[in-house]
Amino acid sequence: MRLLQLAFVVALASGIAAILIYTAGVSKIYGTHQLSDEDLEALQSLQSGFQKCVSSNGLGLQALSGRDYCEVKLQFPSDTDPKWRDPKTGELEGLSFDFNLCEAVATWEQVRNSTTILTREFIDSLPNGWEEYAWRRINKGILLNRCENKTLCMEKLSLVLPETPPYFPRQFGRCAVIGNSGDLLKTRFGKEIDSYDAVVRENGAPIQNYTDYVGTKSTFRLLNRGSAKALDKVAELYDTGKEVLIVKTTIHDIMNKMIREVPILNPVYLMLGASFGSSAKGTGLKALEFALSICDTVDMYGFTVDPGYKEWTRYFSESRQGHTPLQGRAYYQMMECLGLIKIHSPLRADPNRVVKWVPSRSIVAAARIASEKLLRRVGAGSGHPLGSCFIIKKQVKGRHTGVSGLRKAAVEHKKYVKRTTMYPLEHNPGHGQLCTVPTS
Ligand SMILES: *[C@@H]1O[C@H](CO)[C@@H](O)[C@H](O)[C@H]1NC(C)=O
Ligand SMILES: *[C@@H]1O[C@H](CO)[C@@H](O)[C@H](O)[C@H]1NC(C)=O
Ligand SMILES: *[C@@H]1O[C@H](CO)[C@@H](O)[C@H](O)[C@H]1NC(C)=O
Repeated sequence: MRLLQLAFVVALASGIAAILIYTAGVSKIYGTHQLSDEDLEALQSLQSGFQKCVSSNGLGLQALSGRDYCEVKLQFPSDTDPKWRDPKTGELEGLSFDFNLCEAVATWEQVRNSTTILTREFIDSLPNGWEEYAWRRINKGILLNRCENKTLCMEKLSLVLPETPPYFPRQFGRCAVIGNSGDLLKTRFGKEIDSYDAVVRENGAPIQNYTDYVGTKSTFRLLNRGSAKALDKVAELYDTGKEVLIVKTTIHDIMNKMIREVPILNPVYLMLGASFGSSAKGTGLKALEFALSICDTVDMYGFTVDPGYKEWTRYFSESRQGHTPLQGRAYYQMMECLGLIKIHSPLRADPNRVVKWVPSRSIVAAARIASEKLLRRVGAGSGHPLGSCFIIKKQVKGRHTGVSGLRKAAVEHKKYVKRTTMYPLEHNPGHGQLCTVPTS
């Protein structure tokens, strides 16, 4: 009996000890934060500016406060006629959507300083990067038994895997991301689009025969699985120059064969993205994410974002299956009112339109810091430029070559982060990043 009691006490004590060690460990990683008065003020300023911004730019959309400083409800007018039905449940799309402003501001601001191209350096620096990660970026990678044969894995990725990031934050000034919406045929945005420093397009979007509407310039093209498999067709779409092709999903043997044999002379890379949860998916959003990681400003054309949605159309083909148009419109309006993008659409066609009430950079910066504390993000509140680095590795000497002729903003940013490269770590709960730092 005594023995049993003793065993019980020992078990209990070790349980408590385990819990204590666990919480101490967790709070050491994430820190525990008290929000200061300034933090709360910053979140309040963000909310109130945001709500005014949505009312004055959202073409009927309203933003309402939620239960706390972070939550916001974006609501369409009650006479909006939702046309889209969920193919699974048959239900009509709703008229209001809840978003978390703190999540959005913390995650998107981080994107602006991160690399969104998969590199060899990233896989090498990731703990067990080849065994745990590389195979996920290879089509049918599951058959490779965690890259048991590393040479084989490297071979499959070699054509799309640069040693180090080919692009840097703020490398480009003004960028335009062009969606494929049929709305593009309502306004002749072509000349305006050509005036940007870099233009990002999506999937199989043609340029020829549509230049009055979509412009002629093309710098990058984001590809989903389907388009990437037809890489040879996509590579022909822009005949006056070589677009950089960025594949959202995995490398496929068919693609490797085409790159080698057609041959495809365009640079081809795989994208490395942050995780935003279910409210933000699709090629359009990935294209915006990519642009935000390399450009000073990002303008958006050709997304279905005006009232009066009837059916999903592309500018170059018949209607097709789309998804959640009202949620998409609300999400893009949120991005505009966080100062991330500027929307251009048939009803917002004036190139000089000013997005009114968009929260200032200083409010966004303060709200971002407060949000990081609230969400217990890695490095929150430290104020250190490398605070969000969850894994830090040394850069391999000689691999990072200096890039001459970078824009001033890009050079300044490089100085700020001490020439560190930051990569998003998918599924890291505190949104910690993998950072590589110079050796000297
Ligand atoms: C590993 O893959 C390479 C490249 O395909 C191949 O030449 C080699 O024979 C493979 N090694 C083993 C042990 O299977
Ligand atoms: C452009 O129009 C011509 C003539 O109608 C057609 O042959 C060609 O395939 C079109 N190109 C594209 C990319 O749609
Ligand atoms: C991103 O870098 C800029 C400097 O270029 C800095 O002011 C800003 O705080 C950084 N943002 C994050 C989320 O670290």
